[in-house]
Amino acid sequence: LTSDHVRIVEVGPRDGLQNEKKSIPLKTKLELIDRLANTGVTTIEAGSFVSPKWVPQMESTADIFERLLQSPPQSNHAIAYNYLVPNIKGMENLVKVMGDVGISTETLGSPSKPATITEISVFTAATESFTKANTNCTIGESLERIKPIVELAKTKNIRVRGYVSVALGCPYEGPDVSPSKVAEITASLLEMGADEVSVADTTGMGTAPSTLKLLQTLRAAGIASTDIALHFHDTYGQALVNTIVGLEHGIRIFDSSVGGLGGCPYSKGATGNVSTEDLVHTLHSVGMHTGVNLEEMSKIGSWISGELGRVNQSRAGKATLAR
Ligand code: HMG
Ligand code: MG
Repeated sequence: LTSDHVRIVEVGPRDGLQNEKKSIPLKTKLELIDRLANTGVTTIEAGSFVSPKWVPQMESTADIFERLLQSPPQSNHAIAYNYLVPNIKGMENLVKVMGDVGISTETLGSPSKPATITEISVFTAATESFTKANTNCTIGESLERIKPIVELAKTKNIRVRGYVSVALGCPYEGPDVSPSKVAEITASLLEMGADEVSVADTTGMGTAPSTLKLLQTLRAAGIASTDIALHFHDTYGQALVNTIVGLEHGIRIFDSSVGGLGGCPYSKGATGNVSTEDLVHTLHSVGMHTGVNLEEMSKIGSWISGELGRVNQSRAGKATLAR
């Protein structure tokens, strides 16, 4: 293992909530983010500047962004808040909020007030059918759409994350997604200027062997493990096994959602992301450091599951609270 620090990207407020049918009050979303900011996580997905016709639940993102810029949650460390951006229109909407608030890229940190950083995520997928269902375009068109978003982000000094969905299985095309295709798209995103690429097992079909094969293919394509994050959904209960494969392959950035929130409207039967509590428990058990307080995270998982009327999907979270 190259290093023992893992950065967790908490995707609950975005990936976790985006498919909830019932409109979640803005107050609840903000409370979720405020509480997460006190767990030790350093990156939080806060929302999406996507079309509200496609994802109504994310319509309040501009309000969330404004609140986080104007009065960020109390925290004793710097936090990056990340927003998904599907097209230049979404990026312009984000930039407009920054202009309205009068804050450019980040509030400068000081020991008494750590920095609040704004980040974006651009996204595409490894199969044509999923790309069509998710963003109504081809993979090639999606990459063309992403270019000007990254360019604009760079002029604003905004860090960019790329996503490649359905990297280990597609709801339309099955489990045999081409690892070379994933590598090709990942390389394109990095070439455009993405600072890291999150390779996503949207359907949870990934297994230890297929994860290993994918990571080997990425490496053979010359992609550094430090440029990759892994984003697992736990649909088949393989997320933690695949996490260990990733760790052994030098990956040190993993995405997860508190309480295992989430699902995907274009991926039937897909459950949520691997829960942050389970991920933290596993990482700590193998001697990795995350900076995340498992107990605090577990309380949030239990609380937000209650708010949404859902069963808490985190086993480690429930066990931690029962201790
Ligand atoms: P489209 O319908 O082809 O685009 O959607 P359009 O340009 O024709 O726009 C349709 C309407 O949306 C228009 O409004 C636009 O103005 C508006 P109208 O003229 O009809 O009144 N519109 C927007 N409004 C606000 N913000 C915008 C925006 N863009 C257009 N940015 C589009 C194309 C890309 C917009 C659409 O397909 C979309 O928003 N898709 C996003 C879907 C999404 O958010 N999916 C979930 C995120 S990906 C994910 O979860 C996977 C991930 O977690 C990793 C993993 O697990 O795999 C990242
Ligand atoms: Mg996801």
